[in-house]
Amino acid sequence: MRVTIKEIQDMKRRGEKIPVLTAYDYTTAKLVEDAGIQVLLVGDSLGQVVLGYDTTVPVTMDEMVHHIRAVARGAQKAHIIGDMPFMSYQADQSDAVRNAGRILKEGGCQSVKLEGGRTVAGTVSRIVQTGIPVMGHIGLTPQAVNQIGGYRVQGKTPDDAARLLDDALALQEAGAYALVIELVPTPLSELISKRLTIPTIGIGAGAGCDGQVQVLHDMLGLFDDFVPKHARRFAQLGAGIRSAVEEYVADVQAMTFPSDDESFKMEQAVVEELEAATSRP
Ligand code: KIV
Repeated sequence: MRVTIKEIQDMKRRGEKIPVLTAYDYTTAKLVEDAGIQVLLVGDSLGQVVLGYDTTVPVTMDEMVHHIRAVARGAQKAHIIGDMPFMSYQADQSDAVRNAGRILKEGGCQSVKLEGGRTVAGTVSRIVQTGIPVMGHIGLTPQAVNQIGGYRVQGKTPDDAARLLDDALALQEAGAYALVIELVPTPLSELISKRLTIPTIGIGAGAGCDGQVQVLHDMLGLFDDFVPKHARRFAQLGAGIRSAVEEYVADVQAMTFPSDDESFKMEQAVVEELEAATSRP
């Protein structure tokens, strides 16, 4: 049995911090789970770090399902959250329920995540009523980047901070089992985390949240197009890949790769027979 939403909520009750990471494919999901991650998010951030889009806006349902399936094959025990891409839940609640169902049924994950506060509370409630657990996402909501006008810290004024607290309470009331708080000042995310009974998972929201989530490519140093201030580089895999590939190129050019040990032998007699057979006029 995979980690359940109740087990995630119990971690908050016990005061245990919840480490969450994104994963987008079979191999990294397997590695990340082996390293102790119990909650994996197949985020629509894959649009940028895997597919090379400028924003998460173009990501489609088919792309999400494709990557969620790969992660579900790689991680055997972790709870897998599938992100709902832009326009898969905003236009119509029935559409939202159908798409959430598709993500769970076809993707093989255990819950879905969607962005927004009080305005999506009705949609969250409808999805939850069908038996699909929903994680909310407030603060910076990257799918609304064209409306917001950039990736900036949210909730800095008294009005904005009050609105974010209200959004968090509305999502909890609607039945969300947890929520992501993105790019919010530490005191505000701490206050929200204390007011809610459901776990808060922060990204760029300070240490006061109940858990943390990072984009795998950011924390591994794999993605250089944009490095967010909140992303600590726990490894420099990008530099490692670059130097490994440079070495490969040099070894192929110098004919030191492949060596005899990395190649396959053949009986000399077979070679001679083939040469004789193919050299006849
Ligand atoms: O898409 C994503 O990876 C996310 C995280 C940044 C929370 O939504």
